[in-house]
Amino acid sequence: MAMALLRDLESLRAWRETVGGDDLGLIPTMGALHEGHLNLVRPARRTHQQVIVSIFVNPRQFGPHEDYDRYPRPEAQDLALLEKEGVDAVFLPSVAAMYPPDYQTSVVVGAIANQLCGHFRPGHFDAVATVVLKLFTLTQPTAAYFGEKDYQQLHVVRQMVQDFNLPLRVVGVPTVREDDGLAQSSRNLYLTPAQRQQAAAIPQTLQSVAAQLQAGIPPAIACQQGVDRLLAAGYASVDYLELRDANSLAAVAPTEKLASGQYRLLTAARLGAPPQQTRLIDNLPLSL
Ligand code: PAF
Repeated sequence: MAMALLRDLESLRAWRETVGGDDLGLIPTMGALHEGHLNLVRPARRTHQQVIVSIFVNPRQFGPHEDYDRYPRPEAQDLALLEKEGVDAVFLPSVAAMYPPDYQTSVVVGAIANQLCGHFRPGHFDAVATVVLKLFTLTQPTAAYFGEKDYQQLHVVRQMVQDFNLPLRVVGVPTVREDDGLAQSSRNLYLTPAQRQQAAAIPQTLQSVAAQLQAGIPPAIACQQGVDRLLAAGYASVDYLELRDANSLAAVAPTEKLASGQYRLLTAARLGAPPQQTRLIDNLPLSL
């Protein structure tokens, strides 16, 4: 069967009716697809009778000086990749369809959304939660797939699904990396060749901070050394580099040796100068 292209809510609803009670996997994306996205599609394809991918660059999750206008939108290329993966349907709504002029309702997420990236991007995770909730209610999936590269986003979505008792499973999928360790991201397309070289300092730094933490260096010292290393590698600024509890995202005691447990080391750092600045995020699991 040919892959269905659903460009409005009516065609999505009609397609959803035809698949009826079939087990359905949803992969929400903003397009500019890479191996990281296809790595979400593949387990969904193996698991579900039907797989739908949404491509929607959600304007509400971009801040006023962020990259909404320049966000890449290679639609034909994206559709060719999805067709090759055997996706059943792609939902590509317009902004007007998702947010008609009389649109008024938003999800407001609690503390989990106002730290780390949320501190530097106020309102970002509320907008993500809102659009994801709309995608869930429109597509009614059995399961939805999210990359661990956006680790805080994965937690925000899990929290919303739990709080609203949404009848679906959230599946987190490990990050896909380039040969030099850089996490795959649509925003890597912004990097100049020189910045692309510098960018690899993020995974290298996370690895070295993780090794220091494993050796018993207190988090505050290990993380500060990581920030210094990123700045020395050419990053213009580091929004944060922090160790958190892997499950709750709670902060850890900064000056004490770590107790055994599951942790996550997370960072966001910026390359270049505004308005062409690129903000990259990454994270690494740490088990002690
Ligand atoms: O991770 C993304 O691409 C977006 O934040 C998402 C989940 C598709 C919501 O717009």
